[in-house]
Amino acid sequence: MTTIKSVAVIGATGNLGPAVVKALLDAGFTVTALTRIDSTSTVLPGAKVHKTDYSSPDSIAEAFKGQDAVVSTIATAALGQQQAVVDAAVKAGVKRFIPSEFGMDTTTITGGAKKILGGKIALQGVLAKAAEENKHFSWTGISTGMFFDWGLKVGSLGFSLPTETATIYDSGNEPFTGSNLALVGQAIASVLKHPEETANKYLKVASFVTTQNAILAALEEESGKKWTVVKKNTADSQKLADEKLAKGDYSAFGDYLKPLLFGDGIGVSPKEEQLANKELGLPKGDLKETVKSVLSG
Ligand SMILES: NC(=O)c1ccc[n+]([C@@H]2O[C@H](COP(=O)([O-])OP(=O)(O)OC[C@H]3O[C@@H](n4cnc5c(N)ncnc54)[C@H](OP(=O)(O)O)[C@@H]3O)[C@@H](O)[C@H]2O)c1
Repeated sequence: MTTIKSVAVIGATGNLGPAVVKALLDAGFTVTALTRIDSTSTVLPGAKVHKTDYSSPDSIAEAFKGQDAVVSTIATAALGQQQAVVDAAVKAGVKRFIPSEFGMDTTTITGGAKKILGGKIALQGVLAKAAEENKHFSWTGISTGMFFDWGLKVGSLGFSLPTETATIYDSGNEPFTGSNLALVGQAIASVLKHPEETANKYLKVASFVTTQNAILAALEEESGKKWTVVKKNTADSQKLADEKLAKGDYSAFGDYLKPLLFGDGIGVSPKEEQLANKELGLPKGDLKETVKSVLSG
């Protein structure tokens, strides 16, 4: 029977990392945050800090000594570094690796977005091979859909809080999934508490399945104001994305997301029954409560 007690978190100081460290500490794991040698970021109290040189296999191996699991929430721009990290994890006897996925389901994604997320997809092959060749090693991928509370704040869901403007794509009625950062942390902790059931699986979780129109209604109700609505077409976003990608501009990803999330009848988000929330014992999210909490800062 596999038991996981000690967890190393890579990228613990970013947008997602602190929520992961918090959930792991709350669940009773011993947490070590691996940060770059020159990083000036601050790690949540309660976690140990291990400065790591990701260009040195010896440095990574040293960081993984005694770790049962590694969770990577490394920046998208640094995804390529994960291959060396997996090699070192296998050699160090790490039992479970959770790669930096935490977005769209990259096992089914197609087109330009697939090309842009190639680093995540390539790593799945590396992990599967490592698990096949090393009986002590396993992995779990976690797709979360959009980061919801974070996305509302930074505008990645089409809503601008400072200007109270909603950009609604197509009808605004296409269901898509979003996960609050705390839920992503809880999902990771639950996977590590249930290592046998979650070994070598790609799981999808979400705080809720919702639509842009439902979010707009919640924002208007909670703010007590009518928001400005700008209507856009996801076919235009798709065209713009293809043009950007043809020029090697990877900011195209944000444009590819629009049809994948909001496109009428073409969105690719999982349905409620495809989510692993129940088996992981994750709480149901409350859209209105989340909107209220984000608006109150
Ligand atoms: N679903 C969504 O809506 C959504 C939104 C954003 C991100 N994501 C995904 O979530 C994951 C984490 O993203 P994030 O936004 O939390 O990441 P982030 O904040 O950009 O970066 C996370 C951490 O990675 C480390 N890092 C940065 N550059 C690095 C480099 N060149 N080499 C090694 N380490 C580096 C830094 O930690 P140290 O300074 O401590 O070393 C940083 O704090 C990614 O897979 C991303 O694609 C999903």
